[in-house]
This record gives sequence, C-alpha cells and structure tokens, in this order.
Amino acid sequence: MEFSESFLQELADRNDIVDVVSGYVRLTKRSGANLFGLCPFHSEKTPSFSVLPDKQIYHCFGCGKGGSVISFIMEIENLPFPDAVAFLARRAGMALPEEGDPGQRRQRDRLLDLNREAARFFYATLTGPGGGSGRDYVLRRRLSGNMVRSFGLGFAPDSFFALTRAMEEKGYRPDELVRAGLANANSSGKGVHDVFRSRLMFPVIDVRGNVIGFSGRIVGEGEPKYLNSRETPVFNKSRNLFGLNLAKKSKNGYILLTEGNIDVVSLHQAGFDSAVASLGTSLTPEQARLISRYTGEVVIAYDNDTAGQKAAQRAIGILDKLNLKVRVLQMQGAKDPDEFIQARGTAAFRALIEGSENHVEYRLRAALGERDLSSDEQKVAWLKEAAEIIAVQSSPVEREIYAMRVAERAGVDKAVVLEEVNRTRSRSRFHQQKREERDITRQLRQSAQPRERSLRYENYRSALAEEGVIRLMVLDPPLLEGVALEPEDFSSPMLGRLYGILKEKAARRDMTLSIAALSGTFSPEEIDHITAILQKPEALANGRRALRDYINIIQQEKHSRAEAEALAALTRRSGNKEGNGG
Ligand code: UTP
Ligand code: MN
Repeated sequence: MEFSESFLQELADRNDIVDVVSGYVRLTKRSGANLFGLCPFHSEKTPSFSVLPDKQIYHCFGCGKGGSVISFIMEIENLPFPDAVAFLARRAGMALPEEGDPGQRRQRDRLLDLNREAARFFYATLTGPGGGSGRDYVLRRRLSGNMVRSFGLGFAPDSFFALTRAMEEKGYRPDELVRAGLANANSSGKGVHDVFRSRLMFPVIDVRGNVIGFSGRIVGEGEPKYLNSRETPVFNKSRNLFGLNLAKKSKNGYILLTEGNIDVVSLHQAGFDSAVASLGTSLTPEQARLISRYTGEVVIAYDNDTAGQKAAQRAIGILDKLNLKVRVLQMQGAKDPDEFIQARGTAAFRALIEGSENHVEYRLRAALGERDLSSDEQKVAWLKEAAEIIAVQSSPVEREIYAMRVAERAGVDKAVVLEEVNRTRSRSRFHQQKREERDITRQLRQSAQPRERSLRYENYRSALAEEGVIRLMVLDPPLLEGVALEPEDFSSPMLGRLYGILKEKAARRDMTLSIAALSGTFSPEEIDHITAILQKPEALANGRRALRDYINIIQQEKHSRAEAEALAALTRRSGNKEGNGG
C-alpha cells in the first residue's frame, strides 16, 4: 500500500475514534472508560458495539466487526482503503501524500467523472434541440423546471451512439463506458452502443454528491419501463437511495419512503423534500441503516396495490429492527403518491402524513383484513394475532392503549386482550432466553477461533498463547526485550506476521502500535481478528510470568508439530517402500 505508517499514525491521531464514531452511532458510557452503542453493522436492540478510547479501536461483541478508525470508515461509508484514508484526511484537514493507490483510485475517479459528464450530456440534451420528446414527457408528467434542475434530470435520445460519441470526444474509452454501465459491447464484438435510449434520465447521486448511476424511464412505448444502471465499481443498488442526496438536508424530521422515482420528484415538487425511493428493489437493511443516519422516523408511502402493501410489511420489519419510528400512509383512490398529489393536491397529502397510522395500528388493521368479527372463530383468530403484535411492544403504556383499541373493536373486555398479550410475552421471553443462551455458547465457542475461515487456527493451544504474547507486547513492549521468540515459531502465520512487525518496531524503539497503522498491511478480516485479540483482557501484573508460560506453550507445540511432521515423513517413506516392495 502507498501510505507510510507514520502518515497513517498521524491520520489516526488526528481523527479520534470517539469523535468519528459518534458521527454515526449514539455512544453512551456504561462502565469504565469504554463507550457502548447499537452496532451500525448488524441489527440489534441492545448495545454490543464498544469503543475503546485508550486503544483507539472499536469492537462489536455481536457481529465481530472491529478495528481502527480507518476500518470503521471503510465499513460504514463503504469505501475501499485508500478512499477511507482520503475521507479521514479531508476530515482532519491533512494533505494526502502523493494521492493514494494509483490503480484503483484512478479507476473509481474516472468512472465518477464519466458519470457526471454523462449526466451533463443528458441534461443538455433534455434542454437542447434534440430534447423535444423528453420535454414533452416532462410536461405530461407535470414536472417543473426547478425539479429538472435540482434532480439533474436529463434525456437519452433515441440513438445507439449519441452518448458514446459525446463521451469519446471527451476522452473516455469504450471500455470505460462499458464499465460504467453506460454502453454495451456490440454483438459483432466490435465497438459499443448506448444502453439508455429514448429515456427520461434520473441520475442517482450518493450522499457525497457523486453521480454513481442512472435510472431511465422509457418515454413512449417500450420495455422495460425503468432501466437502472447495472452494478459497477461505483454503483450498488442495495446501498443507495434515489433522492437521499437532497432528502438528507430536509428539516422534516422524517424520511418519506416511496417506491418510484417519479413519486420522489413529484413529492419534492409539492414541498415534501424528504422523499426517497429504493432503486427498483425492496428496501434492504443497508438502505435502512443509511436512512437511520439521517433520521429517527420513516413514513412509508408505497404503492396502493398488493405488492406495495407486502413490500411495506417487509420494510416495517427492517426499519423496526433499527429502532426507527415507522408510520404507514394509506392512500385511498390513488395508486401511488404521484397520482395522489396530482389528483388531490398538497394539502390532502399533508393530511395523510399527519393522520398516518403508526406501524402497530397498521399491522393490527392488516391482521384484521377481511375477517368477519361477527364470527367467533374469526374474532378469536384476530385477537390471537393482535396479541402477538402488541406483545412485542416494549412500553407497557403502548400495550395498554392498543389492547384497549383491539378490545373495543372486537367487543371484548380489555383484560381479556391483555391477558392474551401477557401469555404471548412470557412464551416469547422463554424462547428469547433460550436463544440468548445458545448465542452465548456459540460466541464462546467462536471467540476462540477467528470468524474468517481462511484465518482458522491449525494449532489452537499454541494460537491462544500466541495471542497472549501479542497482547503483552502491545501493552508493555519492553517486556519482550531479549526474548528468544521468532515469527517462525508461531503456528498461525497471521499472528507470526504481526509478531514480526511488532518485534521490528520494538527494535527500532518505536513503541506505538496503532491498528490504524496496520490497516494497509492486513486485510479487513485480519484487522477484525486482531482487534478481537487485543480486546481480550490480559493481566499485566503477572506479565513476565504469563509471557514465560506463553512462550513455553508455543515452543512445546512447535516441537510436537515438528515431531509429528517427522513422523509423517517417515511413514510416507516406509509406506512407499512397502508399496514398491509389495
Ligand atoms: P412503478 O412502475 O410503480 O413506477 O415502479 P412509477 O414511479 O410509478 O412510474 P410511472 O409513474 O409509471 O412513471 C416503481 C419503481 O420500480 C422500479 C423503478 O425504480 C420505479 O421507479 N422499476 C419499475 C424498475 O426498476 N423497472 C421497471 O421495469 C419498473
Ligand atoms: Mn408507482
């Protein structure tokens, strides 16, 4: 990697991990110096994500992710190492030493530049002489010039080479156009042609303002109705949301989640500037996490058909896991928000938002569905389902309120509903407890071994001792002075490599070990594991004794490995002899 250790060290020094992580995770103090919060990398309701200010590392006991401030940014911003470094350098106002890793970085930058140029081209086409049918379409959908500008909408003309030619003139190569998902290779094998033709173009812009891809709606007849950029090195559908670049600046306090690009533009036009849409897929956990960075509340405004309502149920589940408040809009007499606004106007939509049900009410009503409450059987079925929905609410007040509503509706006593709720709760508590016990046992079993399969320990006993040596070395480097232990003695190649690096540092009297400085040398999986090792307790009081024990174990195990190998070689040889002679 291109960055020097001293540069990475300074980068880490100037980006305190607590400050950086606090930008994404609400951290609270629990005990000691460590801070805890809800892990941003997996869904959980009780905090198992910890930040250790003294070691400048983070570690999640739940999912095992961990590392330095650099690994954190790589993971949460979904950036490759050099970009994460650049991100933090910018944050701390540091200059980069000779712009990062040339290959990868240049490629990403080229693709982003190309996408931006393409967006400019589409925009110019829409507003220029070749944009007639695009403009007609914009008018037909009643989208304003303001919206065209703020979303950077454009038009891809009905041509196989309009974009390709324009971009080649700007110095982009055909293979780059293909890599960006803007062109396809001709079936003849020679040359390329435009992917987007005769479409209204919606640039997909990430939260940093990069044009990462496009979504194009056919103007007139043709299939498919919407065409999205394929996955490219800069475009990942499941990790981005259309409109979030604008919605993140909204003062609304909630995000309006819709299904369609047109819905988003139409809503912004009507003043609902926190509308976003997933890109032709149902909401993913990554998108939900992205949303949770900007808001604590989501209002779902999905299409009013069965598919939309099913998708809403799924989205509720995903959002609820992140403790986001969720409400669901019910649009009567319109298929989607765009149609609703066009037909009924802004005030009616605002009233919908204000009157929207929270997700518990929504689910209770969905469970009721077509059931006929005059039938005892169906009433009981609904009450049971309702009890399950209410039972998972953590606040007793809320449980009380919903139980009351359900009771009223079903014409039974509130106490009856509450009793059913409590039965459900104690049943699920029992299961929860069992589950937790299982999790802990699994965690104990796992914590010994690296999670990453390729790092699995061959010699477990030795590896634990090796871990101990590493910990001591980090805590108290002088302890290891003059110790006769070589990287080759280690059973785990990765730990041996780490030991070698630390030993060399110690020899140079460089006493710093920051995981950040190692980020360039070890893979993210290795960093996860190194962090987990450092995270385990190590009593320094008996450091010298512990070190001696560890080294003894390592030497013993090395010895038995050597013996086993010699034996195996012998067996092989005698096996051969027998084979030849027999
Ligand atoms: P809709 O068909 O509901 O789109 O699909 P819409 O926004 O209401 O479109 P209009 O009003 O007819 O123009 C919702 C979303 O699903 C994705 C697109 O992201 C679209 O905005 N989609 C739809 C596709 O990716 N491909 C398709 O063929 C259709
Ligand atoms: Mn729609």
